[in-house]
Amino acid sequence: MKKNRTDSVWVAGHTPLTGYVSTQGSKNAALPIISAIPLLPEVELYNVPDLSDIHVMVDILKELGGKGEFSNGVLKFHNKHLENTPIKEEYASKLRASSLFMGSLLGRFKEATVGLPGGCVIGSRQLDIHYKGFETLGTEVSMEHGSVHLKTNGLEGHFALSFPSVGATQNLISASVLGEGEVTLHNVAMEPEVIDMIHFLNMAGANIQYIQPATLRIVGVDGLRPVRYKVQPDRIEAMTLLIAGIATKGEVTVTHCQPSHFAYPLQVLSEMGAKVETGSDYITAGYQGPLKGTTIKTDVYPGFPTDMQSQLSVLMTQCSDVSVLTEDIFNNRFRHLEELERMNATIKMEGNTAFIHPSTLSGCRVDSFDLRGAASMIIAGMCADGLTSVHSLKYLYRGYEDFIGKLNYLGAEITYR
Ligand code: EPU
Repeated sequence: MKKNRTDSVWVAGHTPLTGYVSTQGSKNAALPIISAIPLLPEVELYNVPDLSDIHVMVDILKELGGKGEFSNGVLKFHNKHLENTPIKEEYASKLRASSLFMGSLLGRFKEATVGLPGGCVIGSRQLDIHYKGFETLGTEVSMEHGSVHLKTNGLEGHFALSFPSVGATQNLISASVLGEGEVTLHNVAMEPEVIDMIHFLNMAGANIQYIQPATLRIVGVDGLRPVRYKVQPDRIEAMTLLIAGIATKGEVTVTHCQPSHFAYPLQVLSEMGAKVETGSDYITAGYQGPLKGTTIKTDVYPGFPTDMQSQLSVLMTQCSDVSVLTEDIFNNRFRHLEELERMNATIKMEGNTAFIHPSTLSGCRVDSFDLRGAASMIIAGMCADGLTSVHSLKYLYRGYEDFIGKLNYLGAEITYR
């Protein structure tokens, strides 16, 4: 990970971003793929982003007895000595994705003990759909001393998710790929990150089929083989950089991305009046004012992603009329709006809907409460009058490999404090 990073930065205002920048590997694709490593004898993963959350996942694999190394975006790992030791709460509580080891350890060893997970505080983030799925498909689930204990003779049958949870879909897939049973999952999440994990497992010899758009059939196999796999580009990072370009009245081209993974969010930017041009693996987005306000509700894929909501909220302050933003996926993901109000934004709340008025932002001290909120505060600082100090950047480093370096390369003036 980058050295000399501090927990807060000074951000200079009115710095239009211009130029070309590449996209990192996807955090939310890499995390579930890494969580599935116990199912394989050996892996080589490429395009893995160098993030604190990724390092914690690798540390957990090492605690389980896996051997390998992660450097320069490449993770090489083998499981010759992997053991089914409980994943302690002190590890699990560091991130939400640790819960995904429940599925892979259950799949590999038919039994797993995993401490309760942590993660960014953006809502209640329950695991009830995961547990219900494990139980319905033939697993005993119990809670013991702050850990979840799972035991099965093999998963089989049908399970319909009450909501297409990304993590529950990934956990149930991992739990089902090995063995003699056949599992059908209905109402699964269709996010590109879920599909990347399915590609990875199928390349290793799993038999996971889409039999209808949101229905998966998983036919158990005896074992998986070693695989080399390149993690897909990070659509959330790409969109964050594009929004930063538009909000600062500049023009940014993001390369090495997959525009089809965020077709609807790009359409939203275009409908707001921004210039948006896409090629097969790049997107250019720029300011051409005035920007129009818009009405957006976060939704599951292919709707507007919750992970792009806070960045969009900053752009909404730069529009010429009122925007309406509703957060429907997480129940506590508007904390950044209070910080935007400290920066002089006019925002009226009604439940989980924010009415965001055209605002002249003014630099001040602001805090971050989750990783997308941290990125948004930095974008807000680049649009504001004067200097903004953004704090609690430990959240930023969970999801963005070199956000500040990329912004400065594009013309920002951000300095570590
Ligand atoms: N939910 C339940 N019960 C469950 C599972 C989920 O009520 O058993 C609720 C959650 O509380 C939440 C909603 O369903 O309100 C969505 O949860 P989901 O399980 O779909 O999300 P996740 O797997 O916990 C992943 C990403 C998040 C991203 C969401 C939604 C990873 C590691 N995390 O979380 O990413 O916001 O899907 O797309 O893949 C981020 O990158 O900033 C981030 C938070």
